[in-house]
Amino acid sequence: MRHSQRGQVDPFIVMDVMEAARKAEDAGRHIIHMEVGQPSTPAPEGARRALAAALDQPLGYTVALGLPELRRGIAGLYRRWYGIELNPDRVVVTPGSSGAFILAFAALFDAGDRVALGEPGYPSYRQILRAMSLQPVGIPTRAEDRYQPRPQDLPLDARGLILASPGNPSGTVLRREELAALTARAAELGMNVISDEIYHGLDYGAGFHSALEVTDEVFVINSFSKYFSMTGWRVGWMVVPEAMIRTVERIAQNMFICPPHASQVAALAALDCVEEADANLAVYAENRHLMLERLPGIGFDRIAPPEGAFYIYADVSELTDNSLNFAAEILEKAGVAVTPGLDFDPVRGARTLRFSYARSTADIAEGLDRLAGFMDDYRAAR
Ligand SMILES: Cc1ncc(COP(=O)(O)O)c(C=O)c1O
Repeated sequence: MRHSQRGQVDPFIVMDVMEAARKAEDAGRHIIHMEVGQPSTPAPEGARRALAAALDQPLGYTVALGLPELRRGIAGLYRRWYGIELNPDRVVVTPGSSGAFILAFAALFDAGDRVALGEPGYPSYRQILRAMSLQPVGIPTRAEDRYQPRPQDLPLDARGLILASPGNPSGTVLRREELAALTARAAELGMNVISDEIYHGLDYGAGFHSALEVTDEVFVINSFSKYFSMTGWRVGWMVVPEAMIRTVERIAQNMFICPPHASQVAALAALDCVEEADANLAVYAENRHLMLERLPGIGFDRIAPPEGAFYIYADVSELTDNSLNFAAEILEKAGVAVTPGLDFDPVRGARTLRFSYARSTADIAEGLDRLAGFMDDYRAAR
């Protein structure tokens, strides 16, 4: 059988690191997980209870754009978080935000179109684009700009722009005026903008702004995976301009029929579980504090200001020019799984690492002790 060209995408390296960590665990080792971008907590209790109560129902297909009450609930979140009155018809429930990207790219771009994205950035943007015969165009961002693109960096010949705030791996946040300037410049250049806001709710004082606060001409993508601690439930959403609803609906009907019904029931209840979600946030805040206190002393002192999400992106160019090998060595010798920057930046990522602090505080403290021991040995051996 012949492979398609567009199917030849790169692996998601963090998934490979997870697999290497799992093998080490199978062999009896205790691994601290600083690679995975997911909470270790379950879905909120209210969400689990709502699903348990619904299990005797058929839970068959829903309408393609999602349960109307869930779409209304999500619109309510925009009132709560940003003070925006949003027409629930503009909310599209999707199979994770990953499903939202596929719908957005299919609705907005034609084969061969160029789509710009900041580097470092979430690797799957690039790979999903390639699998859909679209061309990712990397914008190399700078540490002094908090690894976010500037309006003057946008390419002149791209049809689309993906923004991410808080960013993954940087954890940095776009200010309201930065969102306004970027979306205005993109509009001038005739680019469709997609704003990935999946880490909203997870910020440590910097606040967070939706692109919807500055324009309605944008696809905004979000998910129940992170703040609501529901990664495996595969339920996310997208807010689209009114004129795009029917196009997206037709694609969604055919591509997915609907997002998972059971997960939609749980997600609706999760919207009310603010206390539990905020308790998880308090754990991340404590973990972040520990990381910022100890990482520089351990030798990881060139880091992006981690304003949101649960990541720290470190420039390790003084230690290595091969982040893949360096991460493998840390896993092997220290039993700590971290993500090589190559996942996020195909060029400069050979000299960076991403640390995730989404696990329990005890795990993070243990991981930091192990990293400190590793770095002592690493320095002594050089
Ligand atoms: C920036 C970003 N966007 C999107 C996703 C995909 O999330 P999901 O499909 O679980 O909603 C992730 C997952 O880690 C991410 O980090």
